[in-house]
Amino acid sequence: MTEILRVDPKHPEAEAVGHAALCICDGGLVAFPTETVYGLGANAFDAKAVDRIFVAKQRPSTDPIIVHIASFEQMADVVSEPSDLAKTVAREFWPGPLTIIQRRGKRIPANVSAGLATVAVRFPRHPVALALIRAAGVPIAAPSANLFARPSATTAQHVLEDLGGRFEIVLDGGPTEIGLESSVVDLISDPPLLLRPGGIPFDALKAVIPNLKVVERYHNVQSAEGQTAPGQLLRHYSPRCEMYLVMGKGEAGIGCLRRAAAGFQQMGRRVGILVADEDASRLEDLDATIVRLGSRSDLDQIGANLFIRLRELDNLGVNPILIGEFELNGIGLAIRDRIVRASEGRIIE
Ligand code: TXA
Ligand code: MG
Repeated sequence: MTEILRVDPKHPEAEAVGHAALCICDGGLVAFPTETVYGLGANAFDAKAVDRIFVAKQRPSTDPIIVHIASFEQMADVVSEPSDLAKTVAREFWPGPLTIIQRRGKRIPANVSAGLATVAVRFPRHPVALALIRAAGVPIAAPSANLFARPSATTAQHVLEDLGGRFEIVLDGGPTEIGLESSVVDLISDPPLLLRPGGIPFDALKAVIPNLKVVERYHNVQSAEGQTAPGQLLRHYSPRCEMYLVMGKGEAGIGCLRRAAAGFQQMGRRVGILVADEDASRLEDLDATIVRLGSRSDLDQIGANLFIRLRELDNLGVNPILIGEFELNGIGLAIRDRIVRASEGRIIE
């Protein structure tokens, strides 16, 4: 049984947080909200507790886990000799949706990092995450709280949908704000690499790390062996049904979506479409389930709604789900990345 503890997302109740922190210290697993998505946390110093995360998520042991801290000083418990660049980048973006790869410190067991000599570290800004880490008094290792290769969970309900019964406590602080995972930067490689676009836009990172290079994550990377860095498998964030990214801008984009939907309907399939508010009325005459993501002009809102609406639509039993193209500025790069991976590369040009 998983215990559900409601907490105020801004001012989390000390009693609930203390109870969850004790569980972490006892080797238990606690799911908690961050500003990006929910995490499934364990004491990062406790190899046995961390092992339980891999089992609960059915996550391959080759995929390393992010360690969460709640102060700049705590970086010393996780990282061995942080570089000057890492300190500068941390001062600029922490607390916040940025994960930094550095050399793994001695106290962090190998399984946290899938045996790598590096470690991913993040100082989140969500009050519940911070309160939990502080009360536990240890850094917390936490991947996104979803089954492996499923969309990340942005509500406690979606955590329970995937993982209910496999861990001790979920701190329910309501839906998360950003809705997409943190940006991951490898600051050991030269030049530094953006391994995963996320909550901090690429341009903002580039302003502080001028030689930052974007890793092409999903081209021809189908097996764990072919990866240049962990976490690059194309199949990721997937709904149960097939998903297609339908390319095309403006009027042409709507035309493409309509044609794709009609094609699937002729095959007798129940189509679901994720659309921007502006486009919804242009598709409503179709015999398809239309779900809105928010205004096209507010990419932050689209990002915040993407996984939650994708899971809702998937649960209605449609197949396939179609989604159109969004701009690539700001959080748009992360949105595109998640859509391409949820679609497993199925793109209709
Ligand atoms: O927003 C987030 O980052 C959320 C919240 C809970 O903090 N966490 C999250 O964790 O998305 P996860 O495990 O779902 O994704 C972590 C990513 C994976 O792609 C993993 O391969 C990569 O970070 N990663 C972790 N440690 C790494 C390392 N040492 N070197 C390279 N990549 C690493
Ligand atoms: Mg994940």
